[in-house]
Amino acid sequence: MQELNIDAGTRWLWMTDIHLEFVDAQELDQFLYKIQDAAADGLLISGDIGTGTDVDRFLIRLHQTFSGPICFVLGNHDFYGRSFAEVRGKVRALCAEHDNLIYLSDIPGIRLSDEVMVIGQDGWGDGRAGNYAASDVELNDFGLIDELRRKNKAERLLAIGTIGDEEVRRAEPKLRQALKATRDVIFLTHVPPFPEAAVGPDGRSDMNYLPFFCCQAMGIMLFEVMQAHPDNRLFVFCGHTHSAAIARILPNLVVHAAGAVYERPDFAGLIDAGNLDVWL
Ligand SMILES: [Fe+2]
Ligand SMILES: [Fe+2]
Repeated sequence: MQELNIDAGTRWLWMTDIHLEFVDAQELDQFLYKIQDAAADGLLISGDIGTGTDVDRFLIRLHQTFSGPICFVLGNHDFYGRSFAEVRGKVRALCAEHDNLIYLSDIPGIRLSDEVMVIGQDGWGDGRAGNYAASDVELNDFGLIDELRRKNKAERLLAIGTIGDEEVRRAEPKLRQALKATRDVIFLTHVPPFPEAAVGPDGRSDMNYLPFFCCQAMGIMLFEVMQAHPDNRLFVFCGHTHSAAIARILPNLVVHAAGAVYERPDFAGLIDAGNLDVWL
């Protein structure tokens, strides 16, 4: 398990869906200054940082701005204009080059303190929640990510279900390992794993959007594992829907989805690894 030497009680700045491709150079500088001013000990970024053509550039800017650990997962937008393989290849090369850039999907996890580990997995809307058959949502994912293009409706469902399952297959051993190491686990993921956390602007889940707003297979896995570990606690931090929601799934499993606004990147919250009770 990869471990960083960080004392308990450190302050982690959480942000999600910052979509830096939508801000101009000056606004980007302002946002980076704001990150510096927050004087956090680490960053947790739950995806949709940019697009497939510029996410590497934005990660470098973050690295140049912030010297502490920058832990992140990627969102669907981070692959736009490229393929999964190409973007992950670029991101892996960057992380190998810069110690403080940490792609959580690629590693088992990081210990923040004696009591807290952070793990992460991109996640994907797996088509299972809501009503895929009746949905008329035409996500840009299917036009802009190489592996998802030129597919009919049935082929798309198969593809996103397969991606969702693969994300779960990678996340589950990390979670089980982390629960052995520490009482509390922070799980950073892009897509809400439960419909209760995947809401629209009106605060409600929408059957039309849910197939793409929720990674149901991930939710089932998290529920089963946490039910079997009542003495541990799991704190899920996600985004993707751009609508804030808190879903208390079990007494020891809570999901926080943060709101976000295009062109206005902001912080989603400050997570104190020494005081996670406030997020329960
Ligand atoms: Fe987003
Ligand atoms: Fe997203």
